[in-house]
Amino acid sequence: MSYIRVYLRLSAVALFFFCGTAAAAAPGALPDIPTPYLPSTTVAVDEMLRLANVTPGDLVVDLGSGDGRMVISAARDYGARGLGIELDARLVVESQENARKAGVTDRVTFRHGDVLASDYRDATVVTLYLLPNLVEKLKPQLLELRPGTRIVAHDYGFSDWKPDRRVAISKTYLLYVVPARVGGKWRLQTALPDGARDYEFDIQQKYQEISGGMRVQGGYLPAFEARLEGDSISFVLVEDGISHRYQGRVLSTLEIEGVVRSGTGRNLTEGRWRATRVVAAGGEG
Ligand SMILES: C[S@@+](CC[C@H](N)C(=O)[O-])C[C@H]1O[C@@H](n2cnc3c(N)ncnc32)[C@H](O)[C@@H]1O
Repeated sequence: MSYIRVYLRLSAVALFFFCGTAAAAAPGALPDIPTPYLPSTTVAVDEMLRLANVTPGDLVVDLGSGDGRMVISAARDYGARGLGIELDARLVVESQENARKAGVTDRVTFRHGDVLASDYRDATVVTLYLLPNLVEKLKPQLLELRPGTRIVAHDYGFSDWKPDRRVAISKTYLLYVVPARVGGKWRLQTALPDGARDYEFDIQQKYQEISGGMRVQGGYLPAFEARLEGDSISFVLVEDGISHRYQGRVLSTLEIEGVVRSGTGRNLTEGRWRATRVVAAGGEG
C-alpha cells in the first residue's frame, strides 16, 4: 500500500474518531478502533528520538513497531538497543529484514505480539504512534515502568496526564517522564544550620505534579516550587525567614534521600535530609 493511501486511511480513522464516534460515545469512553499501520515519517522518527534524548545506554521500545524504523534508527543513529512489538506478523518479518539491511541485528529485537500483553519492563524509552483508545489502555502498564523512563507519543497522548514537554514540528510529539510514586505521608529528618528537624511531610501527587507541606508544632510549612521528574524531587521550605532548598532522589517507594541548601551567597550551608514513608496499617501511608 502506498504511503499516501495509508496516510489517507489513518486520517480517515482519526477523522471518524474525533468527529463521529467520539461525539456519540459516553463521556470518558473511547471507541475501540484498532490502530492501523501508518509508518512515521523520517522527520517524526528523528524528532521523537531527539525529544527522548536517546543515548547508547538506552533500550528503546516501540509499541506497535510497524516496519521497525523507530527501533532501527535508535540503534543505527544513536547506538541504543531496541525492541519492537508488533501485532502484524508480516511487518515483524519486514522489520527483521530492514534491521539486517541496516546492519543492526545485534542490537535490535522484534517480537510478534499484542502490546497490551507484552513485557517490556527494561525499557528506558518507549515510543508510541497509536490511536487514543490503545494509548489509554497502555497507561497503567507504562506507569509501572522505572521512574525516569521517557515516553514519547506521536499525535495522541494521555487524556489526563499533562506532558512534560510538547513539540510541534509537522506533527505533535509529547514527552512524558514516568514519575516516582511519592504521594502520601512521610517522616522527613534533616540537619539545618540551627539544629535538626523532624517533620511530618504530606505529599499530594497527580502524575509528575506534586504539592504538600510539613506539619510542624502549631502550624504548617507549605512546600514551594515542588517538582518531581522521574525519581528526582525538589521543593523549598521557608522557616524563620530563611529559604531551605531541598533536592533529593526517590530511592524506593519507602525512602527519599538528598541535600538541603540553606541561605544564599556566603551564608549558604549544606546539610543532608532523609524521608521515610509512614506506612499505615494494611498499606502505604
Ligand atoms: C501507526 S502505526 C506506527 C508504526 C511505527 N511505530 C512507526 O512509527 O512507524 C501503528 C502500528 O501499531 C500496530 N498495532 C496496533 N495495535 C497493536 C497491538 N495491540 N499490539 C501490537 N501492535 C499493534 C499496527 O499493526 C501498526 O503497525
